[in-house]
Amino acid sequence: MLKNNLQRHRCSFWYGSSSWLHRHFLKITWVHVSKAITILVTFLVFVFLGVLIYVGRFDTAVFGTFLPVKQGQELLCATSNLTKQNLQQQSNATCPSYFRWIHEDLKPWKETGITRSTLERARKTAHFRLVIVDGKAYVKKYRKSIQTRDVFTLWGVLQLLRLHPARLPDLELMFDCDDRPVVQSKDYFQGPKARPPPLFRYCSDQRSLDIVFPDWSFWGWAETNIKPWKGVMKDIKEGNKRIKWKDRVPYAYWRGNPHVTPTRQDLLKCNVSEKHDWSTRLYVQDWERESTSGYKQSNLEYQCSHRYKIYIEGWAWSVSEKYTLACDAMTLYVTSPYYDFYIREMVPLKHYWPIKDDTKCTSLQFAVDWGNNHTKEEMS
Ligand SMILES: *[C@@H]1O[C@H](CO)[C@@H](O)[C@H](O)[C@H]1NC(C)=O
Ligand SMILES: *[C@@H]1O[C@H](CO)[C@@H](O)[C@H](O)[C@H]1NC(C)=O
Ligand SMILES: *[C@@H]1O[C@H](CO)[C@@H](O)[C@H](O)[C@H]1NC(C)=O
Ligand SMILES: *[C@@H]1O[C@H](CO)[C@@H](O)[C@H](O)[C@H]1NC(C)=O
Repeated sequence: MLKNNLQRHRCSFWYGSSSWLHRHFLKITWVHVSKAITILVTFLVFVFLGVLIYVGRFDTAVFGTFLPVKQGQELLCATSNLTKQNLQQQSNATCPSYFRWIHEDLKPWKETGITRSTLERARKTAHFRLVIVDGKAYVKKYRKSIQTRDVFTLWGVLQLLRLHPARLPDLELMFDCDDRPVVQSKDYFQGPKARPPPLFRYCSDQRSLDIVFPDWSFWGWAETNIKPWKGVMKDIKEGNKRIKWKDRVPYAYWRGNPHVTPTRQDLLKCNVSEKHDWSTRLYVQDWERESTSGYKQSNLEYQCSHRYKIYIEGWAWSVSEKYTLACDAMTLYVTSPYYDFYIREMVPLKHYWPIKDDTKCTSLQFAVDWGNNHTKEEMS
C-alpha cells in the first residue's frame, strides 16, 4: 500500500507537477508533522487498547469503542458501551481518518474474536504480557528485551492509566519488543492455525499481521540519552529556529549506524567523494565515542542544520524516523516495507520526499537539486 502510494506520487512527480509539489510539499513545517505525530501517539495508544477489547469481547453485549470527545483542545477517543450496531454506524463517522489503520490492523480477528488459546500462541516470542484490570496494570515478563525497551513501553502505558484513570478497559495483551515483525500472514490463511496470534510490536510490514504500537522512545530512551517525545519536540523546535531553512547547509544529511542493514551500507556509497558529489553528507555514528562524550554529536536539536535530512530503515523501521520528520528540513525518505504506527498516515510529497531504494544516489541528488533550484519559492 505504502509502496503503491509512493509509486503513484513519484509518478506524478516525475512527470512534472512541480507547482503542485511546491504548494504542497515544500511548505511543510515542523508544526505539520510534529502535531500529527503527537496527536497520534497520545491517542492511538488509548484507542488501540480500546479496540483490542472490542475485538476480544465480540461475543458479549458490551463493546469498547471510540467516541471522540472534545476536552480542551485535545481529541479523546474513549471506550463506552455501545451496541454492535451503534458501533458500526458511529465509529467511522466520528473518528479521524487515521483510525482506519486500527481497523486494518485488527481485521484478522474481527469475525472470530480472540480466544484464550489464540492469545497464548503469541507468547512464543513475547517479552511480556500486560494485563489491565480495574485500572491497574499487571505485567508478566517472559524474556529480557533489548536495553530498556520493555520498561519504557510499560511506562507509557502507566502514564496513560494515570492520565485517564477510569477510562481504560480491562484487557490482556502480548508484547514483543524486538524490531522485525514475526506473524507472517501467509501462515494463517486457513486450517487450525487460521487465527493468527495477536502480538503487539513497534512495526510491521505488508506481509505480516503484527499489531503496531508506539515505540518505547516516545517515553524516553535512557541508553542514548534521548528524552521523552514531548521534551525532544521542544528542543527540536528551538533548534529549528536557530537557522533559517535557506541559510542551512544545502546538502542531504544522514548520521547513523550503517552496520545494521545492507541498505544503509548501500546508502554510504552515495557519500560525497573526490569523483562525484551526490549532494549528500553522510556520517557514521560512533555510539561508543558518543556515549563517552555525553552524546554531543547526536543531540537531536543540532541535527537540523541541513536543508535535507535522509531517513533510511534500520534492522526494521528506525526510531530516528520521527526525529527526522520533526526537523524543519525536507525529509528524504528512502522507501521501506516497514511501517510504524503513524507513517501510514503520512503523505508522500506532503510530509516527505520519497527516495527510490534501488537508485538512492541519483534519487537523492535529484531531490536536493530540485530543492536548491526552488529556494525562492520555498521561502515565499
Ligand atoms: C455502561 O453500562 C453499564 C451497565 O449497563 C452502565 O451502568 C453504565 O452507566 C454504562 N456506561 C455508559 C457510559 O453508558
Ligand atoms: C469502518 O472502517 C473500517 C476500516 O476501513 C471498515 O472495515 C468498516 O467496515 C467501516 N465501518 C463502516 C460502518 O463503514
Ligand atoms: C562522507 O564524506 C564526508 C566529507 O568528505 C566525510 O567527512 C565523511 O566522513 C564521509 N562519511 C563516511 C561515512 O565516509
Ligand atoms: C536545477 O537547475 C540547473 C541549472 O538551471 C538545471 O541544470 C537542473 O536541471 C535543475 N535541476 C532540477 C532537479 O530542477
